[in-house]
Amino acid sequence: MNLYDLIMRRRSIRNFKDQEILEHIVEELLDAANNAPSGGNIQPISIILVQEAERRKELAEIVGDQPWVKNAPLSMVFCIDFYRIKKWASMSNVDFTGENLFSNFLIAYADLMCAAQNVVILAENYGLGSVFVGTIQANIGIARQYFMIPEYVLPMMVLSIGYPKSVPRNIPKLKRDVITHKEKYNVLSNDEIKNAFEDKYGNFDDNVEKYLEKAFIEAIEADKQQSQSWVERVKEKMKKLEIRNNAQFLFKLRYPPEVMAKINENLISAFKNAGFDFI
Ligand SMILES: Cc1cc2nc3c(=O)[nH]c(=O)nc-3n(C[C@H](O)[C@H](O)[C@H](O)COP(=O)(O)O)c2cc1C
Repeated sequence: MNLYDLIMRRRSIRNFKDQEILEHIVEELLDAANNAPSGGNIQPISIILVQEAERRKELAEIVGDQPWVKNAPLSMVFCIDFYRIKKWASMSNVDFTGENLFSNFLIAYADLMCAAQNVVILAENYGLGSVFVGTIQANIGIARQYFMIPEYVLPMMVLSIGYPKSVPRNIPKLKRDVITHKEKYNVLSNDEIKNAFEDKYGNFDDNVEKYLEKAFIEAIEADKQQSQSWVERVKEKMKKLEIRNNAQFLFKLRYPPEVMAKINENLISAFKNAGFDFI
């Protein structure tokens, strides 16, 4: 398969077979992460491997009870790591104070995601599937304690990896033209914007399960794997909040501002506790 087809075929996988990933494949995935682009080639990242059954279960809890994290044979916890750089700099009679600068953080997070995406693509090439789990960002303090992470290190992203049991097929995307601007920014009209999202999500109709496959695949997958009635709860919330369209679903129900504000608050104090002081 050529690389274009491989990238176009990739989907986030949340349903994994109970099948180990061979050690040499894990090592190659780590090589792919380690060989990713990095600003200044400073490589301010560390990756914690989670493979033991009990640890997988506990990590799944830390990231908000996402069952695929427990079921995946391997999760990689990607951390921004300024601890190693600071130590090296100080032993070399120079200061590294990137933990106080938003610019350093931003580049390090870009580095981290470049490394993680390299793993995603190589994993796909080996017939593995993966899913990013960003909700670790809501529990950075707990994750730092759990993994015994020192100061100046932030666990920022989990990538759960394994052999797919099933692959979602109805994940909508914007049309290519919507995200493309030639030579200068092309401001879309209100109608163009409305149509772009209607094309993506389709009409907001009564078939909730079908709609959730496109807009909240996690709820469908979680029900399949854990029967915690995510879908029932979403349906109830949709009724209660009188959700009438796609945008309301996303920004009133899935990512309500008060919840996002709370996460933001936690994030800021977790950064401070880890010695990052740029906010
Ligand atoms: C930064 C980031 C955070 C994500 N966090 C989660 C998560 O916490 N749980 C999850 O199941 N999927 C998570 N995902 C996966 C997205 O839900 C998924 O990429 C999106 O639905 C599009 O589907 P696709 O990857 O199949 O194209 C995350 C993806 C990214 C890039």
